[in-house]
Amino acid sequence: MTNFSTIYKLSVVAITFFIQACSSSCPALECWFVQEKAGRGGGLTGATTQEKSWLNIRRDTQSSAESLKAPSDINPDRVYFITDPAATLCNQALNAPRGSVKKPQCEVNPFLPQPSDLRWVATLTESALSPIYLQAEWFSASFQGLDEQLGISTITRAPTGTKEHDVILSVTSKTMSAKSRLGAPVTLDCSFWADPSSPLSQSGFAVEWRYQFRGNGRLILAYDGKTDRLADTQEEGATMDFKGLHERGNASLTLQEAKVHHSGTYICTVYLPYLLAQVVMELEIVEPPSLSIHPSPLPLAVPGQTLTIQCEASGFAPLPLELSWEFKGSDGKSRSLGTGSVSGHRQAWDGTYSQNARLELDTSKLDLGRGGEVTCVAVHPGGTRRASVTLNVIGFSGPSIEDSMALVGVALVLYGLIKFVSWTFTGSGSDEADKQDKKDK
Ligand SMILES: *[C@@H]1O[C@H](CO)[C@@H](O)[C@H](O)[C@H]1NC(C)=O
Repeated sequence: MTNFSTIYKLSVVAITFFIQACSSSCPALECWFVQEKAGRGGGLTGATTQEKSWLNIRRDTQSSAESLKAPSDINPDRVYFITDPAATLCNQALNAPRGSVKKPQCEVNPFLPQPSDLRWVATLTESALSPIYLQAEWFSASFQGLDEQLGISTITRAPTGTKEHDVILSVTSKTMSAKSRLGAPVTLDCSFWADPSSPLSQSGFAVEWRYQFRGNGRLILAYDGKTDRLADTQEEGATMDFKGLHERGNASLTLQEAKVHHSGTYICTVYLPYLLAQVVMELEIVEPPSLSIHPSPLPLAVPGQTLTIQCEASGFAPLPLELSWEFKGSDGKSRSLGTGSVSGHRQAWDGTYSQNARLELDTSKLDLGRGGEVTCVAVHPGGTRRASVTLNVIGFSGPSIEDSMALVGVALVLYGLIKFVSWTFTGSGSDEADKQDKKDK
């Protein structure tokens, strides 16, 4: 027993160390360094240049010992050291296994600190002093993890003329592409870290959530953390945990009830005085259809008859939906009956769609035997749904021995029945007459 628990403890310790070793290794990343083209009369042309750069991430300046050598195709002038005390960038999802084809994505841009005019941000720079601290080299960088769920955006600062950057602000999301069923609560993850030793992090922060879909944008939440004020917005049921925001930098957005019109792009922006960093994520509301078949149950069919069966798929989002029909005979084998004729889609008030498929089931053309199960199949990103009805064909289209036997059986039964009926009617009448006859005698 003691042995077992010792082994158990040791393995727990070993596993913990292993996990820590894995998650704490900070990566060296190849990044695109993108900046506006110099010259050309002020650089308003919007043209950019991009070149490869190399970022050695570390937790503190001491742990730089094992920095990975930059690949030879990278200009040594574009090799940087990034110190990230919060180790946000040391996430496993940014650490590609050696030699893997898939690499985390990353882009670095020069950044110009400036005050913001936004109402919920302006209070951060009220003193109107542009501190000497800002006179340095600033970069903004964005990273996307291998799992496609992690996104990090950082603002880093290096004393002018050096390549040693410190992370001053980082914003992280772990839900870069989120999905939700209709009506469920949705949380879009966003958190930030600000270097407590930076003079900028002492004068407060602001958080803003924006929504964008096909060129339309709107403000969802805007919060001034310095004055603890929330800007007026029209969005219903959108909240943040303000306690978690101040205590742990948890800026996650919760939508109480997912609706179809919530699908789109969400941008979480965190402001420090003169600085901002943002992560962009996608939310998709995915709801599979409900199916119903008409008529249900199906009327009995005689061979040669054509039955019309309707399948209605409703309450689904987004488009498209694939509707088709299947038939499973008494032999247990399934086969496709094709799509039938599929209607156009209609949109309901809540944004969900509905669509119909009509099947003309010609019982003489198809070898349906004595019937079976007719199934409507709806294939949707939210899942595949099925609905079935039982088809009963009376008689048969191709005579088999069994069918012939059955027919003979039916004929015999019918014959017997007719005989019986006629016997009860005529027979009983003659009985009476007989009795009468006997009495008379
Ligand atoms: C952040 O807050 C959301 C709710 O707003 C919560 O669901 C989530 O667990 C929190 N995350 C952390 C890391 O505390």
